[in-house]
Amino acid sequence: MTTVLLLGSGGREHALGRALAPDSTLHVAPGNPGLAGLGTCHDVDASDPDAVVTLAHEVAADLVVIGPEAPLVAGVSDALREAGFPCFGPSAEAARLEGSKAFAKQVMEAAGVPTATARVCTTADEAEAALDEFGAPHVVKNDGLAAGKGVVVTSDRAAALAHAKTCGTVVIEEYLDGPEVSLFAICDGETAVPLLPAQDFKRVGDGDTGPNTGGMGAYCPLPWAPEGLVAEIMATVIQPTLAEMRRRGTPFVGLLYAGLALTGRGLRVVEFNVRFGDPETQAVLALLETPLVDVLTAAARGELAALPPLRWRDGAAVVVVEAARGYPGTPVAGGAITLPADTEDAWTLHAGTRNDSERLVASGGRVLGIVGVADDLERARDRAYQHLSRVEYPDGFHRTDIGIPH
Ligand code: AMP
Ligand code: GLY
Repeated sequence: MTTVLLLGSGGREHALGRALAPDSTLHVAPGNPGLAGLGTCHDVDASDPDAVVTLAHEVAADLVVIGPEAPLVAGVSDALREAGFPCFGPSAEAARLEGSKAFAKQVMEAAGVPTATARVCTTADEAEAALDEFGAPHVVKNDGLAAGKGVVVTSDRAAALAHAKTCGTVVIEEYLDGPEVSLFAICDGETAVPLLPAQDFKRVGDGDTGPNTGGMGAYCPLPWAPEGLVAEIMATVIQPTLAEMRRRGTPFVGLLYAGLALTGRGLRVVEFNVRFGDPETQAVLALLETPLVDVLTAAARGELAALPPLRWRDGAAVVVVEAARGYPGTPVAGGAITLPADTEDAWTLHAGTRNDSERLVASGGRVLGIVGVADDLERARDRAYQHLSRVEYPDGFHRTDIGIPH
């Protein structure tokens, strides 16, 4: 058995833990009540490099898997590699692909990767000029990490400018029209292996209304995707980006997440992330049949080229996020939750929960992820919503249109 140390505490980590647990001895820091059922949770700050290295020694980790972006940007994977631990997650330098939107634009430009034309602005005058150059709808992005809430897309110029002024360095770019796709590639610096393409629902309300969130649900694969889409993304986005990162002396080892828009003029990168997406991971891993521990170990050791092709369950998976009222603003905390038993094809993932003297209560904005799998998308969606209807959580809400392609 491989001893795996998994860092993080959200729904993505619960999905990762669920896919890792059958073939490993699982330790998690800090974890959550769902992960506590799969392994041992340790009360350690996942973003503290020294504390994580100490824990990796204590549990004798064969592999460390880093879920969220904050530890990556903080250099936790550098500290682990220096201490001799195989680690799935990029170095702090390579994590700048997510940590700085301006840096990601530079890499894409150097690598010839198609993306929205953008201006990096540091003053209100520059921001105003960029807003007028591109026109409405305006796209204004905080340069740094903002938990999925740093981007404002609006036709209201005053609101766009107001957001720009709160950001310090801001990226203002042309608006990309067309359906969005999330593609995850497992990378070992040289070789990249794609997972199934997925679609995320970022806005808080049905019909894609209201503010952006970290993600309100997702489904995979994409029945409407054009033939050859994954191969095209690998050839025009993932491979050139890996090559450029190698050329810079900062090879990318970990998960490269391309968020793309399929515009009338071809595909364009909307953003890079440097870790598994949340909540797409909850749907994608529901269909993976190859042991995840083998895939991530091969990537961490630079041995992906020798990995047999991934095996997938036929059909589709849908994850619906149950959030606390108030999210993405201030969520109501502490609401009591009662969960139905998991089944073979519908289960609950914990995202923001904690145990309060034996009772399960909400402790975050996105509280639960309810997954359904079936032979096709419509049935997977039905399974997820049926299961969700048995969740008792009066303070929660969810979108009702997750899994309907948009
Ligand atoms: P990001 O954090 O960069 O993924 O942005 C969050 C969301 O904002 C994306 O998933 C899109 O829905 C939207 N968005 C970002 N950039 C653009 C763009 N250039 N054009 C249109 N929508 C965008
Ligand atoms: N699903 C969006 C994200 O993980 O950033």
